[in-house]
Amino acid sequence: MTEERGNFGSKLGLILATAGGAVGLGNVWRFPYMTGENGGAAFIVIYIGCVLLLGIPCMLSEFIIGRHGASNTFRAYSKLSGGTPWKFVGLLGVLTGFLITGYYAVVSGWCLQYIYASIVGELHGDPTYVKTYFTDFSEDAVRPVLWTVIILFVAHFVIIHGIRGGIEKASKWMMPTLFVLLLIIVVASCLLPGAAKGVEFLFKPDFGKLNGNVFLGALGQSFYSLSIAMGCICTYASYYTRQTNLLTSAVQVAVVDTLVAILAGLMIFPAAFSVGINPDSGPSLIFITLPNVFNQAFSALPAVGWVVSLLFYVLLSLAALTSLMSLHEVSTAFFYEELHISRKRGAVIVTVLTSVIGAFCSLSLGSMSWLQAGGKSLFDIFDFVTGQIFLPVGGFLTCIFLGWYVPRQLVRDEFTNWGTLSGRFFGLFLFMVRYVCPLAILAIFLHQFGVI
Ligand code: PHE
Repeated sequence: MTEERGNFGSKLGLILATAGGAVGLGNVWRFPYMTGENGGAAFIVIYIGCVLLLGIPCMLSEFIIGRHGASNTFRAYSKLSGGTPWKFVGLLGVLTGFLITGYYAVVSGWCLQYIYASIVGELHGDPTYVKTYFTDFSEDAVRPVLWTVIILFVAHFVIIHGIRGGIEKASKWMMPTLFVLLLIIVVASCLLPGAAKGVEFLFKPDFGKLNGNVFLGALGQSFYSLSIAMGCICTYASYYTRQTNLLTSAVQVAVVDTLVAILAGLMIFPAAFSVGINPDSGPSLIFITLPNVFNQAFSALPAVGWVVSLLFYVLLSLAALTSLMSLHEVSTAFFYEELHISRKRGAVIVTVLTSVIGAFCSLSLGSMSWLQAGGKSLFDIFDFVTGQIFLPVGGFLTCIFLGWYVPRQLVRDEFTNWGTLSGRFFGLFLFMVRYVCPLAILAIFLHQFGVI
């Protein structure tokens, strides 16, 4: 029997949970680097423009489909599709969320290992040592797999307690903790000698660096950062109530997500510049460059370095875990509703299957390196297929579906909570979803394959 679905109990809980789904590794390992490389404050202005004009309408579209459906993403699209193949766009969302869960859990597991390594002081040494430490660990056949399974179990444990008692309750302490840790590290980093150069790198507006590539990069990053087209937003919105103001919620989630990304830059760059290390992006930033930065920046005060490193990996694990919970919930809701089983059983199916996927992704980096195609490991293939193919395709189709296929009155009713809220921005919203968002997504898609 399908148990009662439940819903979020408070406005704050709903925002923190949804923002927790959005705030993730992308905020920390990609946004700051892109900002520094692409024109500093000028990039931030473009990024905020993308979030406001394109990210928020796409997020709102998913909110509308999810809340109207009050069910998992596949069924939510089915309800609006009237038996047409549009329902498969919902299925694509579930599939994307499901496939990402496994490989996202691998990186989340690495964060746990680095908490442990910080505590026992394993990250101290020269740059070559730190680099070897990471390659040895990530290519190991046992430890990364174990951590992957452990973090999936933590997400599982939260999810089985349902929306209010699980996801909402956990997000209500995890997100504020993440914020406090972020602020502590920002202060420690900005107090280092020479930190101002990092702040300048991040914020100095350089409009000369802006070009089409930067614009498309900002757009892609905003969609990834807001977790658009992964099923997560739509699934969480299915637990919103009829009173939830969808527009203000989307704006609040976007503000939190952007703020965390900018603060992450203030955490990383001042420290990196104070020791003259050039920051990079991706896993090597987090697991190789930053341990080196912490070692050198706080070499005179090893105890402070120890604390900062530990807090940093706790912060990262919290960011990863809240995203992982939202990803896990996409498939859990799908299984328990479509198979008519309990939430607990649905969650077990997801945890087991994604543990297997995660294990293979992890092993493809080391002992099973034959698990590759076209020069890409299984890990990279998952990253590529979900982020660069499924995400734009799902986002594009969702805009067309909501903008052109779903009855306008239904969309308007959801947008205005059945006429009880102002519909002032409705025209703009619909215009963006019908014309601008699909074209922008198409541009990102073609650009990444070098067509434009
Ligand atoms: N938005 C997350 C981030 O910024 C990434 C993510 C994608 C999370 C898909 C969940 C689902 O890291």
